[in-house]
Amino acid sequence: MSTFWSIWISVIVLGTVFGCWWLLYATRKGQTTDTETDRTVGHSFDGIEEYDNPLPKWWFYLFLATCIFALGYLALYPGLGNFKGLLGWTSTNQWEAEVQEAEATYGELYAKFGDTPVEQLAENDDAMKMGQRLFANNCSVCHGSAGRGSLGFPNLTDDDWLYGGDPDSILTTLHQGRNGNMPAKGTMPNMTNEQVDQVVNFVLSYSGREKNAEAAEKGKEVYAQACVACHGPEGKGNQALGAPDLTDNTWLYGSTYDWIRETVVNGRQNQMPAQGDRLSDDQIQILAAYVYSLSN
Ligand code: HEC
Ligand code: HEC
Repeated sequence: MSTFWSIWISVIVLGTVFGCWWLLYATRKGQTTDTETDRTVGHSFDGIEEYDNPLPKWWFYLFLATCIFALGYLALYPGLGNFKGLLGWTSTNQWEAEVQEAEATYGELYAKFGDTPVEQLAENDDAMKMGQRLFANNCSVCHGSAGRGSLGFPNLTDDDWLYGGDPDSILTTLHQGRNGNMPAKGTMPNMTNEQVDQVVNFVLSYSGREKNAEAAEKGKEVYAQACVACHGPEGKGNQALGAPDLTDNTWLYGSTYDWIRETVVNGRQNQMPAQGDRLSDDQIQILAAYVYSLSN
């Protein structure tokens, strides 16, 4: 904030506090007595008159206390433009202190499980309860509260894995994240509409659902040129590339002709965000075991 605005705000804030103070004393000055009397201010509206009595003492002192509190607060905490307050408080360092405290408390709980191998941890009820809570807080927005996923978000409870369901692969997925990248039209950017139709029919033929057998037959050649590098000669996919198996019943984006066509024509970009800088190693260990337990 520039010096001008800093002073501007300070003057308004302090002006208001001292203004209240002044008002309290100014209205008191005209008062001739400290105690209540029958004297009225002298005017009468429709026969209603007003006593000329001072504010009750407790009330008056309460107002004063409020002003003093305000000044004390403004001295200790930020409130006057750029002045940071004598305590140096900021919402950021309060938050950091709370996080540190939470880590000190829960860190020990997590650390108890951090060294246990994933398979073993998956059989520990306490660890899995913890894993379920961690999953609900960190993963369920995308994978669903039961881990069943949805369009574009893989189901973690089945046996079908983009990147592998063994403990090491799951740990790598969680620590480093994953980028799923299916290029538009595979490795054949100049693919014609006819060839798109052929290759989609070919993919459908893996599950016996081709619309046009002749097109599917031709699609085999297109596949060999444009798709085989990632999805493999038998369409079984490649976990090192995150290329899905096209022959099974599990679909990340839908299994119909239209969905598959959309995937082929426009490609797909998908990201599993890395958790390594958000969660501790111990927490990730517990989560990996939880994910492992969902399908084992
Ligand atoms: C912002 C959404 C998002 C969040 C949050 C998220 N994921 Fe994911 N996750 C994805 C997406 C999208 C993929 C698929 C990536 C791809 O298609 O390449 C994925 C993939 C995965 C995979 C790989 C599945 C496979 O078949 O190989 C695992 C395991 C996984 N996530 C676990 C988790 C866990 C555990 C958490 C919580 C710590 C989590 N994810 C949080 C979006 C998310
Ligand atoms: C460079 C590697 C690569 C090539 C080449 C490639 N794909 Fe893919 N494909 C992927 C990846 C990776 C995904 C998963 C994307 C994701 O995780 O979101 C994918 C996803 C798909 C899907 C979605 C599967 C599902 O479960 O919903 C289909 C269908 C598909 N590819 C078909 C093809 C066809 C047909 C070709 C050839 C024209 C092709 N791919 C070429 C890497 C590739």
